[in-house]
Amino acid sequence: MSFPGNFTWGVATASYQIEGSPVHAGGGPSVWDLFCRREGAIVNGESGAVACDHYRDWRDDVALMRELGLKGYRFSISWSRVIPNGTGAINQQGLDFYDRLVDALLEAGIQPWVTLFHWDYPAELYYRGGWLNRASADWFADYTQVVVDRLSDRVQHWMTLNEPQCFVILGHQSGYHAPGLKLDLPDVLRVAHHSLLAHGRAVQVIRARSKTAAQVGFAPVGTVKSPATDTAADIAAAQQSMFSVTNRNLWNSTWWLDPVFLGSYPEDGLREFAAVLPAIRSDDMATIQQPLDFFGANIYHGELCRAGTDGQPEDVPYTGSTPRTLLHWPVVPQMLYWGPKFYFERYGKPIVITENGCAQADVVSLDGRVHDPQRIDFLNRYLRELGRAAADGVTLAGYFQWSLLDNFEWAEGYRQRFGLVYTDYATQRRIPKDSAAWYAGVIRANGVE
Ligand code: FCB
Repeated sequence: MSFPGNFTWGVATASYQIEGSPVHAGGGPSVWDLFCRREGAIVNGESGAVACDHYRDWRDDVALMRELGLKGYRFSISWSRVIPNGTGAINQQGLDFYDRLVDALLEAGIQPWVTLFHWDYPAELYYRGGWLNRASADWFADYTQVVVDRLSDRVQHWMTLNEPQCFVILGHQSGYHAPGLKLDLPDVLRVAHHSLLAHGRAVQVIRARSKTAAQVGFAPVGTVKSPATDTAADIAAAQQSMFSVTNRNLWNSTWWLDPVFLGSYPEDGLREFAAVLPAIRSDDMATIQQPLDFFGANIYHGELCRAGTDGQPEDVPYTGSTPRTLLHWPVVPQMLYWGPKFYFERYGKPIVITENGCAQADVVSLDGRVHDPQRIDFLNRYLRELGRAAADGVTLAGYFQWSLLDNFEWAEGYRQRFGLVYTDYATQRRIPKDSAAWYAGVIRANGVE
């Protein structure tokens, strides 16, 4: 299997899912702190108030990462830990936390890959209209500057937004995630537009202020389609479907990626949403389309697609016998072949898989260890497909497994375990699972043997 020599093997986490609440250390609350208090919002009424207590245990967690032999660690910064009200006064204690983390990572030989926003939007800014307020883009740019000024002498890899599709659609349309809004489509599109503007403004700030040569990208959801068979017709159908906007559905790739990489909203999307488009100012698209160094994508699953009898793409439903993870996500390893391939063909940037992994029902066995053969099998299969994409000429720059630790899985609470390392939430003890040793072997071999 052919991964490039300088390939970054890493793991990914997010601030609210592992750190424990910012409120304890001079930070301010985020929309997730608010949302977790809402009755029925989170399974078992849980929250990220403590999570993996990484804010206190970060040294041990970096030691675990060193043992894994990681080349990169993708983590996010809590905006309201750094700037409690979202704008204005800085919480130095919060900024110091990330400063020390970066130093420790570098000392362990691990490149820090920083995500500026992984969903924990400052509560105070939410009260000022949140992403509905166009000023969000400026607020985000100002926050970015604070972080970049402090960390960019050592951090070279930046991602602006994690999965805008999720925090916009789940957070503002279906209400399943924070801030739990169920807005009408025109307002959802407005939120989406402002988030893309925030991305563009943040890239400008990173380029202008970074003290080292910055590598910048972002980490959208890869809404991937794979051909149901290897026929040319099905391949073409999958590719066409993966890059279209239909049924006013915002779960797509192009509405989010074409502006960022190509500088315009896709034609079919503009037709779909014609009656409900937000105000788009003349220079907005130029602001959104900033030069990026890599194409990040979080890919866990996707849809199978074939050419229908009328020649148009049609999805092929999964069946009861489709293998699934604990979250019921279908296990479809070929998404890590077709996703990178189709994205590379359309956008032409080196691909980084910014997240991939699976939730399994991991338990501590009588021998005190955590055996997770399903996760090993899952990763093995997906990585083989990624290797196949590399062999077929897709430029790949990195792969970040989700996640280092079992952590707070948003509305699912703690019952979904995604980690290479088991978290015993009662004691905060960490137990590396069998998959951790397996992944360390992959990193040593630069691929699956
Ligand atoms: C992604 C999120 C990440 C984690 C994984 C399982 O959508 O970016 O925070 O919850 O799913």
